[in-house]
Parts: sequence; structure tokens; C-alpha cells
Amino acid sequence: MALFSGNIEDLRTLYTKQLQTLLSTEQQIIKALPKMADAATDPQLKQALQSHLQETEAHEERLDQILGELTGEWEEKKCAVTAALISAGEAIIKDTKDDATRDAGIIAAAQKVEHFEMASYGAARSWAQVLGYSQHAELLNQTLQEEGHADKLLTSISERTNTGATRAA
Ligand SMILES: [Fe+2]
Ligand SMILES: [Fe+2]
Repeated sequence: MALFSGNIEDLRTLYTKQLQTLLSTEQQIIKALPKMADAATDPQLKQALQSHLQETEAHEERLDQILGELTGEWEEKKCAVTAALISAGEAIIKDTKDDATRDAGIIAAAQKVEHFEMASYGAARSWAQVLGYSQHAELLNQTLQEEGHADKLLTSISERTNTGATRAA
């Protein structure tokens, strides 16, 4: 549990903004994942991206639920970091000719997104605990675990597929 000695109202505002930004993150990922899965060649990678799309839809629903309880209504906050990470991934897909190399690039791009999500959800979960929203903390933790699992799965796929990328060189 993180220590917090500042102003609780300020933290509540920060927490709400973080959730709004995360909602944009998940919405952008929901649009990007099918394109990444289409561009991937390795069947296990395709499958991992498709099943993380289903998890991502659940992440969006959890955020909707939490924000609904917290504010009732909220404005959209487009997450510029997510947009940049996704467009970097799209550039890799466009710029790679070899399948195994493209897969290696897709894995790296997807893991950058997962790490960003993990950092964001880690902070949001900690703030939810400080603010006394234990049910939010539980929901955010569920998502955090799924992001972590997706990241580990991508690592294990890359350990196998990067050998293919090396052979193509
Ligand atoms: Fe997510
Ligand atoms: Fe994710």
C-alpha cells in the first residue's frame, strides 16, 4: 500500500482523470488489436492477440462501471501515449517485408502497450486503495493481472518466433 499524505480531493481528481485516460487507452487498443492479429503470421501470436482483444473488451467494461459509479458521466480524454504506441506498431507492420521479422516487431509493439497499461493500472489500483475504493481496486487488479499475463505470453512467443526472424536474415 502506497503512502499518501497529500490532498485527498486532488488525488480523487487525478484518479478520475487516470481512469478516463485508461478508457481511451482500452478503446484505442480494441480498434488496433484486430489489425495486429491480421498482420501477424505465427498462429500462436494471432491467437494471443485475438484472445487479448476479448480481455480488453472486459477492461473497457470495468472502467465504464467504475467511472459510472464515480462520476455518473465523464468527458472523453484521448490518450496521446497510446495513440503514439499504436502508430509506432502500425509503422512496423507497414515497413517489414519478412513475416518472422514483422511478428517480432508486432510482439515488441504489443509489449510496449502492455507495459504502459501495467504502469497505468498499477497507479490507478494504488490510488483506489488510498481513496478507500476497495471494489475498484479489486477490478483494477483483475485487469492488471490480465495485462501481466498477456505480456508474459508475448515474451514466451517471442522466445520461439525470434529464432525464425534470425533465420530470415
Ligand atoms: Fe487492457
Ligand atoms: Fe492489454
